Amino acid sequence: MDEDFGSMKRILNSGAGGVVTKSIGLKEKKGYENPTLIELEHGILNAMGLPNPGIENFKEEILNLKKLNKPVIGSIYGSNSEEFTILARKMQEYGASAIELNLSCPHAKGYGIEIGSDPKIVKEIVLNVKKQIKIPVFVKISSNIINILEIAKEIENAKADAIVAINTVKAMKIDILLKKPVLSNKIGGYSGPAIKPIGIRCVYEIFKNSNIPIIGCGGISNGKDAVEYLMAGASALEIGSAVYYREIDVFKKICNEIKKWMKENNYKDIKEIIGAAHK
Ligand code: DHB
Repeated sequence: MDEDFGSMKRILNSGAGGVVTKSIGLKEKKGYENPTLIELEHGILNAMGLPNPGIENFKEEILNLKKLNKPVIGSIYGSNSEEFTILARKMQEYGASAIELNLSCPHAKGYGIEIGSDPKIVKEIVLNVKKQIKIPVFVKISSNIINILEIAKEIENAKADAIVAINTVKAMKIDILLKKPVLSNKIGGYSGPAIKPIGIRCVYEIFKNSNIPIIGCGGISNGKDAVEYLMAGASALEIGSAVYYREIDVFKKICNEIKKWMKENNYKDIKEIIGAAHK
């Protein structure tokens, strides 16, 4: 049984404060054909196609994870506010500690960034989900939009509990010998060290213009990267690709590196760091 719930359990047992699930939709989805992921010089490019078992089949996995008594954040994707609302209610019913709305998948038709760049749709989705559930609602946004501050304001006004910035950046790799894109979907999302300056800029701008907690994400690989996101204005962090670079206990490693850096630089409380670059 344990192997079936492997990766998220292992993450929770490896020093992470919580875990965010892969985005779950209403119906089971197989995802794209391979190749779906490639490591590049400065990051990882992927287009999985939102593969997931569908919300009903996800119940057992959440129930099992909850036995560890740690926060489980249920990420969901849909094409409109009705779908998001159904998914959020189910996640809450299954015991998720919070919901993350994926309004930023960089390539799925009718989902993610396609709806996450429209202020009216974003507002409607957040308002409706907030109305229907009690647990906190986080909204993961993309850096690929020109109106990021307008979108952040809508999310704040709709009373979401936090903004997660940023998701993967729209990108592509061409094999020059084969003369064709590597990913079966051609376009994918870029993550890892290359996107950190983009994430830092987004967190900095949102912090400056809005008044909503920010969860920083995008290319955090070590303690100094984490401190940089905190100084930009993030008060919590998500880590993904660094698991690939530094193994499953990367969470513990980064926490220790933050503590070491704070000690070396005479910081006593993490609050002294959050938003420090704005002072
Ligand atoms: C996929 C989803 C994402 O939200 C993302 O940032 C990249 C890829 C996917 O399932 O293809």
